[in-house]
Amino acid sequence: MEYKELIKLAIEASKNSYSPYSNFAVGACVLTSNGNVYKGCNFENSSFGLTICAERNAVGSAITAGEKEIKAIAIYSPNSQYCAPCGACRQVLYEFKSKEGLDVITTGDNGLEIIPLEDLLPRGFNL
Ligand code: THU
Repeated sequence: MEYKELIKLAIEASKNSYSPYSNFAVGACVLTSNGNVYKGCNFENSSFGLTICAERNAVGSAITAGEKEIKAIAIYSPNSQYCAPCGACRQVLYEFKSKEGLDVITTGDNGLEIIPLEDLLPRGFNL
């Protein structure tokens, strides 16, 4: 799976975003070590703190399908270029990074950007 394709799937997912409060749509798609892909979008709630980010929704779909290792995640927002994951999502991704690491892929006018998760979250939390 090419990262360009993964971004396309994140764009598709962003179209299902439920974000009437922020009007900030996000889509994500994870690629697992098994070569499977799982999409997620953000969905909000009138009780604002219950909002779920697109990235964690995509990770949840992967885990529900029995996956444990994520190689890459593509993230897209029509509202912002190079939309990067929030701090909470970085730690959730850290839990499931593959042995080779985890690439975070964003996009904007200058094409794709690929950032290793360890650059976004140095010294993530481990028990
Ligand atoms: N959001 C995400 O889906 N992912 C992020 O990494 C940051 C924020 C969502 C949550 C909320 O629905 C909207 O973007 C504005 O914060």
